This record gives sequence, C-alpha cells and structure tokens, in this order.
Amino acid sequence: MSAREINKIAGAILMALIIIKVADLAGDAVGQAQPLAKPAYLAAAAAAPGAKTEAKAAADKPGAAGPGSGAAMGPLLAAASAESGKSLARKCTTCHSLKKDGKNKVGPALWGVVGAQKAGRSFRYSSALKGLGGVWDYAALNAFLASPKAFAPGNKMPFAGIKRAADRAALILYLRSLSDSPLPLP
Ligand code: HEC
Repeated sequence: MSAREINKIAGAILMALIIIKVADLAGDAVGQAQPLAKPAYLAAAAAAPGAKTEAKAAADKPGAAGPGSGAAMGPLLAAASAESGKSLARKCTTCHSLKKDGKNKVGPALWGVVGAQKAGRSFRYSSALKGLGGVWDYAALNAFLASPKAFAPGNKMPFAGIKRAADRAALILYLRSLSDSPLPLP
C-alpha cells in the first residue's frame, strides 16, 4: 500500500465518521424539535376552533343562554343597540301594545314586561304560560323569544321566534327601556 492509498482510506474513514456524527446530531435535533413542536401545534389547533365555537354558540344558537344562565346575556346586551331593537319590535306590535297603559291586543300589553311576573297582567293567558312561574328576567325572555313553543309548549303566542341571539338582545334591551323603572342590566 502506498502512502497515497493509506491517506485515501484514512480520508474515507474520517469522512464516514463525520457523516455518522452529522446524521446523529441531526437526528438529535429532529428528536428534540418534535416533542416541542407537536404539542404547540396541537394546542393552537385545539384552541382556535374551540374559542370560535364558544363565541358562535353564544351568538347564534337559539336559546344558548337559557334559563339560569342570565350572566351569558350580559355581554350580548352590552353590545346590543336599543335602536335596532326598536325596529325589531315592529314584529311584535301586530299583537302587542308597547305603550304605557296600552291595551291588550291579540297578546297582553308589554309595557314594563322586563322583570315583571310571567303571565301577571289582566289577560286570558294559556295555562302553559300561567304554569311557568317566576319573572321575565333576561335569560327567560331570551329563551322565550328564541322559541316560544320550545320554552312554553302549548302557549298561544303564534310567533316562530327570533333566531339570532344578537337580535334578541337588541329587542330585549329596547323592551327594557319601556318601563318606569327599567330592570338593572345583568
Ligand atoms: C301573532 C301574535 C303575536 C306576536 C307577533 C307576538 N306575540 Fe307575544 N304574545 C302573544 C300572545 C297571544 C301571548 C299570550 C300567550 C299565552 O297566553 O299563551 C303573548 C305573550 C307574550 C309575552 C308574555 C307576556 C306576559 O305577561 O307574561 C311576552 C313577553 C311576549 N309575548 C313578547 C313578544 C315579543 C317581544 C314579540 C315580538 C318579537 C311578540 N311577543 C310577538 C301574541 C303575539
């Protein structure tokens, strides 16, 4: 073997060792990066749609803020406009007077109804409505207006309901203003 050949072989062995070492280091780097990167990615993926779903549930789902969850109405009412509630209330005035000392129409007069006893006026209510008990707080009105039929099965208010939670909040905010002493906001 010439010195040149020995050099070549030594060089090849050295090269092989370097390649093994580099591959090893690279493997380590990948091995370390993976456990960090994966949970971070998963956490981000899990958090984003989760938060969206929650917000969507509060905004869209009929009756999302049902009885007992009055607190959920707070942000919706805070973001609502009584002005748009006023135009939404045109859906109601076919059957309800909204004026102070208004007369009953197809339905009972609604002045001061927010916070009032359910079925508490001089009106021939259905037994479904009379059987509810309690007051029209924000959560109850929200659930009733989302779907009168689902909230009080058998009641005689022929109204399908208002789908958007933001619209219900606006309408409830407006109804609240129709009172001598409006119910405090939640
Ligand atoms: C087509 C007629 C009709 C329309 C439209 C209508 N309601 Fe009614 N509403 C009634 C009747 C009838 C009752 C009584 C139901 C019963 O006794 O079962 C009632 C009852 C109610 C009550 C319960 C009152 C109480 O004293 O307990 C509220 C609150 C109410 N309506 C709000 C509304 C709002 C707000 C709208 C508009 C989004 C609306 N209603 C639209 C007919 C109507």
